[in-house]
Amino acid sequence: MNGGKARNRTGDTRIFSPLLYQLSYLAMRERGAANEARGGTSTGFLPPGGTGLPRWSRLDSPRTVLHRRAMPPSTVGRCLDVLRCPVTREPLTFLSEDEIAAANRDLAAGRRLLRDGSAARTPLAGALGTAGRAFIYRVEDEIAWLLPSLALVRPEAATAGLAAEKGLVKSFYDDFGWVKKADGRFNDTAEFTIPGAVVQDYRRHCNARIGRLLGGGRLLLDAASGAIPHQEYLAFSAGYDIRVCVDFSIRALNEARAKLGDRGLYLLGDLTCLPLADGSVDSAISLHTIYHIPPGQQTTAVDELARVTRPGGRVVIVYVWGRSLAMDVVFKLRGWLGFVRRFGRPSPVAGPGGDAAASSVPSLYFRPQNHDWFARDVAARHSARLRVWSAVSTAFQTRFFTGGVAGRLSVAVVKALEAALPALAGRFGQYPMFIIDKP
Ligand SMILES: C[S@@+](CC[C@H](N)C(=O)[O-])C[C@H]1O[C@@H](n2cnc3c(N)ncnc32)[C@H](O)[C@@H]1O
Repeated sequence: MNGGKARNRTGDTRIFSPLLYQLSYLAMRERGAANEARGGTSTGFLPPGGTGLPRWSRLDSPRTVLHRRAMPPSTVGRCLDVLRCPVTREPLTFLSEDEIAAANRDLAAGRRLLRDGSAARTPLAGALGTAGRAFIYRVEDEIAWLLPSLALVRPEAATAGLAAEKGLVKSFYDDFGWVKKADGRFNDTAEFTIPGAVVQDYRRHCNARIGRLLGGGRLLLDAASGAIPHQEYLAFSAGYDIRVCVDFSIRALNEARAKLGDRGLYLLGDLTCLPLADGSVDSAISLHTIYHIPPGQQTTAVDELARVTRPGGRVVIVYVWGRSLAMDVVFKLRGWLGFVRRFGRPSPVAGPGGDAAASSVPSLYFRPQNHDWFARDVAARHSARLRVWSAVSTAFQTRFFTGGVAGRLSVAVVKALEAALPALAGRFGQYPMFIIDKP
């Protein structure tokens, strides 16, 4: 937006049409807010270097569209009982319109900042807060921003940003992973899954194992839901009223919301400090994510999933071992048994599943641990058991799950072994499931 001179231009509809003015105002605010969630500098509607005060003062008018949008969004409102401040674990309530106006004045004047110390340059339209309003969280388009680093706090409490490793993963997904390619696939899916009917069928077969472990109830937590990239993932929440999608990528949540609509609750949050009450969900899943968390906090993420699941409920985690004995043996044997070569050419191993990754792909932080960590920090503390999600790595699938008879035969052998020995295949294969039944 420009200054007064520009506003007097002939044809500037903002002078003549209050409705159009408000719509363009909202569009700019939303672009700014989305940028803030990605961790960038908000474009908002403030001129660079300007004080912005005249713009902020528009929020004080009781006639603005923004005030009407301060109404509690529906799904967030229906699930308010389970939401908690991720920093203090206090219950949260919606700010009134007067409180939002006051918070916006504070943001504009720098009396309230993002907890990472940066200025929040985008005004609030709706918000949740702790009882004394020490922590205020933006609610925007049915997404509650319950990420500690994005809490709006007094300057003296602005002490903590997102850890560097988490920032790398968040940027990967906001700026690349959940961006769609021209063919409609997400970059993440294109880079880390293998095309081909045989492999896709095997993936659905593995995912069906997760579905069979879930029941029904009010809430299914999908911790690090991402964009819910596979069609069969939608079936996991069929028996639940609401799927609670938590992710720290705003792009992931926008995509998840496009798929689930008002059957989802969308929380911008961190798995290591879930913004949910103890025992508040019936079941929880976390698929292909905990190994993207720094190793020192992976146990915390598992503890958090167990904490928020109700007694009698179940947690299912899909993990990848740093090393798999079965895959080590197969690839050592491959060197000795020349005939195996006809199944396909080796591809470079990179990324969580050991996939080929083109050099243009930004690197993705991941730190998979081994069974000793599981035994010491997960099984011993939560009486978790191991089952197989997939015994074989993506490198194995690339080489052996080809089209044709040989590929189909390989899949059949792997499926049969996994079905006969699910615990051993989870222990020594590549991708285990951790199953925690809450006592
Ligand atoms: C590999 S994707 C998995 C997505 C989905 N669960 C699936 O199976 O396709 C990892 C997702 O975890 C999210 N993520 C990683 N670490 C997180 C954390 N500490 N808190 C919240 N989300 C996180 C990323 O933003 C990304 O959407």
